[in-house]
Amino acid sequence: MITATDLEVRAGVRTLLTAPGSGLRVQAGDRIGLVGRNGAGKTTTLRILAGEGEPYAGKVIRSGEIGYLPQDPREGNLDILAKDRVLSARGLDTLLREMEKQQALMAEVADEKERDKAIRKYGRLEERFSALGGYVAESEAARICHSLALPDRVLNQELRTLSGGQRRRIELARILFSASDGSGGKSDTVLLLDEPTNHLDADSINWLRSFLQSHDGGLIVISHDVELLGDVVNKVWFLDAVRGEADIYNMGWKKYLDARATDEQRRVRERANAEKKASALKQQAAKLGAKATKAAAAHQMVKRAERMLNEVDDIRV
Ligand SMILES: Nc1ncnc2c1ncn2[C@@H]1O[C@H](COP(=O)(O)OP(=O)(O)O)[C@@H](O)[C@H]1O
Ligand SMILES: [Mg+2]
Repeated sequence: MITATDLEVRAGVRTLLTAPGSGLRVQAGDRIGLVGRNGAGKTTTLRILAGEGEPYAGKVIRSGEIGYLPQDPREGNLDILAKDRVLSARGLDTLLREMEKQQALMAEVADEKERDKAIRKYGRLEERFSALGGYVAESEAARICHSLALPDRVLNQELRTLSGGQRRRIELARILFSASDGSGGKSDTVLLLDEPTNHLDADSINWLRSFLQSHDGGLIVISHDVELLGDVVNKVWFLDAVRGEADIYNMGWKKYLDARATDEQRRVRERANAEKKASALKQQAAKLGAKATKAAAAHQMVKRAERMLNEVDDIRV
């Protein structure tokens, strides 16, 4: 699980987010939609929660597994097969490769002793693979890949030969594979997904939606797909670019939309009230300021008016 305490996130010298206390917390069963306008800092914040970036201030504590899908994928080793990249999430790729090597030896080696050695080695590897649930896992990985429109032909290619969209789907498949243990047991993986529906077709999006609905290990998802958010999330973090704060709504998508509209109306009202009072104060100050003896009092009044305006938020355009 993830807890961020007294977090401050910056891009260069600009503060994107200050989150005092430990309001930013992901626990099992949380399915959080992280929303806000373009450039608000969603991607930067998620990177920091994933541990791939350092906050300007505060700290982030993580426990259990994290499955992070960045918005822009990292370039790793592109020489491996796509299916090995997926299987590597549970350490099964090396075992499978080892098994294939011994299998080849069994077929090629003429010397009987050498062949027996390969057979015994293969047997031991196979036992381990089987004990780790390798066969079930292998077919599960294939099922996830097919659901993301990645056919066997693609899975048997090197990552280097895949398109950007295919590579990103392989990364998504890898993360979802690591989060599902196949036995239907509870997952302790926190999924951090930055725009996971990019490069997905409609069928794949539907499949992803139901996968995420039944994921019980914790989730933060950044998405423009309001249908996905509507069906999946039970909490919303709204990153307000104007105030540089995160508003936390512990409710599903529809209720969040209503609650935020109410919050914004309240802020508009507060702002209008403050402006009215401030302008009255400034008028009074202007009258007073004409007399030299009252200049100090007038100055105080103007300052008070400005403080009043600072305390309410700017109105969002
Ligand atoms: N490496 C960087 N240096 C300076 N500014 C950056 C950097 N990366 C992103 N930004 C700026 O930080 C802000 C937040 O970006 P980002 O986290 O990608 O927002 P979002 O995902 O909400 O669209 C943007 O204004 C962006 O221009
Ligand atoms: Mg982003």
